[in-house]
Amino acid sequence: MSVQPSFNKMISIDSLRTMISNRLVAKGGANRFSHILGVEELCAQLASLYGVDESKARIAALLHDSTKYDSEEEHIVRIVRSFAAKELAIWPKPFWHCLSAVDYAKVDCYIEDEDIHNAILYHGSARPNMSTLELILYVADYAEPTRSFPNEHIRDIARNDLLAAFIQTLQEIVHHEQSLGHQLMDITLKALSFYQSHLGGTT
Ligand SMILES: [Fe+2]
Ligand SMILES: [Fe+2]
Repeated sequence: MSVQPSFNKMISIDSLRTMISNRLVAKGGANRFSHILGVEELCAQLASLYGVDESKARIAALLHDSTKYDSEEEHIVRIVRSFAAKELAIWPKPFWHCLSAVDYAKVDCYIEDEDIHNAILYHGSARPNMSTLELILYVADYAEPTRSFPNEHIRDIARNDLLAAFIQTLQEIVHHEQSLGHQLMDITLKALSFYQSHLGGTT
């Protein structure tokens, strides 16, 4: 029924889930796996609601924090290999896993689908003009039920209006980061401006 993402070598979603669980456990991030499973299930639900291939949504979700507990040196190797050394200065360290997870998807898991790569890459920063899969992962990362902060309202909005849920999520994250005195990435500010102008009446 659904179109399979492109693979050089087929890795089943079940195998991917096991690989990622094992690597998180090995790197001391076992607790992160329940979050990843929460994101996977919410992504799958939103994918079926919004006409996105469910397997692509599951794969993007499983991979999005796959390198979160890698060492700084491991991030650097992966980022330089799949992007460029200059990206290390552009992306704050807490976002390095967004890039290194794309490298892990490509090199270790043979995932070639560009939409999956972009969903992983922008799951922390957002960007203007995101694909539906990118919106789904961004929302699900924030709104999955194992999160320790209140987020049920986002899941409720997302069932009826994915874009409204995304904009609410982006605004809440920006507000939270600003309240902590954190500097936002340019791309996040551009995303905020892009989607707030969307709220202002463009369709
Ligand atoms: Fe993340
Ligand atoms: Fe996450």
